[in-house]
Amino acid sequence: MGPGPSDVHPRITEALARPTIGHLDPAFVGMMDELKSLIQYAFQTQNRLTLPVSAPGSAGMEACFANLVEAGDKVIVCRNGVFGGRMQANVERCGGEVVAVDDPWGRAVDPAKVKAALEANPDAKILAFVHAETSTGAQSDAEALCKLAQEHNCLTIVDTVTSLGGTPLKIDEWGIDAVYSGSQKCLSCVPGLSPVSFSEKAVEKISNRKSPVQSWFLDMNLVMGYWGQGGKRAYHHTAPVNALYALHESLVMLQDEGLENAWQRHGDNHNALAAGLAVLGLDFVVPKEERLPQLNAVKVPEGIDEAEVRRRLLQDYQLEVGAGLGDLAGKVWRIGLMGYASRRDNILLCLSALGNTLKQMGCDVDPAAATAAACEVLDNK
Ligand SMILES: Cc1ncc(COP(=O)(O)O)c(C=O)c1O
Repeated sequence: MGPGPSDVHPRITEALARPTIGHLDPAFVGMMDELKSLIQYAFQTQNRLTLPVSAPGSAGMEACFANLVEAGDKVIVCRNGVFGGRMQANVERCGGEVVAVDDPWGRAVDPAKVKAALEANPDAKILAFVHAETSTGAQSDAEALCKLAQEHNCLTIVDTVTSLGGTPLKIDEWGIDAVYSGSQKCLSCVPGLSPVSFSEKAVEKISNRKSPVQSWFLDMNLVMGYWGQGGKRAYHHTAPVNALYALHESLVMLQDEGLENAWQRHGDNHNALAAGLAVLGLDFVVPKEERLPQLNAVKVPEGIDEAEVRRRLLQDYQLEVGAGLGDLAGKVWRIGLMGYASRRDNILLCLSALGNTLKQMGCDVDPAAATAAACEVLDNK
């Protein structure tokens, strides 16, 4: 129950163990077509340029920036946690000019500040923001931010590493131009793959670049030759065959459950965990209406050694919860309820393990009342 990788479903680990075939084998190529459609479903897009980058979320991030940002391009970057900071670093490395819009860690990106930045910078080409900030548990209003970008003729780059499959995300309806995610969060697949998708407007910008994309591996003009739908596939790199079987299986599972049902399950389980945490007297970092259901950042009570609590949870209950990052290091725990890990048994284990551990360390808490509060929510949803 950390911030990812989440628990991997046995169906997915079984898929990993299937025989490794050639990555240009007709059977594998057929699976690639299916995989592309499944990613389009998960992202809710018809974008032709939709594929899994053969590397983790950070490579998907880099693919979006390396392809879309050219030297001198002005990019508005929203920073409200660790990953917005990484977006800024990407823009700088591409030779772009950053206009930073800052919000406090633990808060969503403020659309009013973004609007002001767009108005003050009519020459900005791109707006970049993180939909689900894993470092704080804050969710930003991607729909509203994309609408603002469109009104100001800007493309959007959106980080959905933690949101995909766990909370509503509608690429086409919201008009997102470039999006990247990760396999290891709400898809509950093994880490190491990054689904990405680019709109026609983004493809046009990539095709009309003045300079070649600096990264050969991530150059979408080249990758398209391997992933192009139905067409003849040219060798680009050796695809991670078994990891792609696993991603395919995880997306089939998501499709079987249904996206809306998956979003609902993550929301219901978050409500149950939150009810139990409230009984334990633990406060969230993020205000209620901006919280991500799949990443619960709670404040460590005064006088408690947060690392010792995590050590005991791991040693005594085989339960992992995450530590704080950056500004929140040492101050919070990050409890994941992602994908296959977003389940009743995990919620109850977490509340009783955390409650008992805090009690042992001198806190006046009632773990049984916390689990009862969570059950009450789950049984009446
Ligand atoms: C919001 C966000 N963006 C990007 C990344 C980077 O992904 P990866 O660690 O798979 O490279 C993460 C990883 O946790 C993340 O949470």
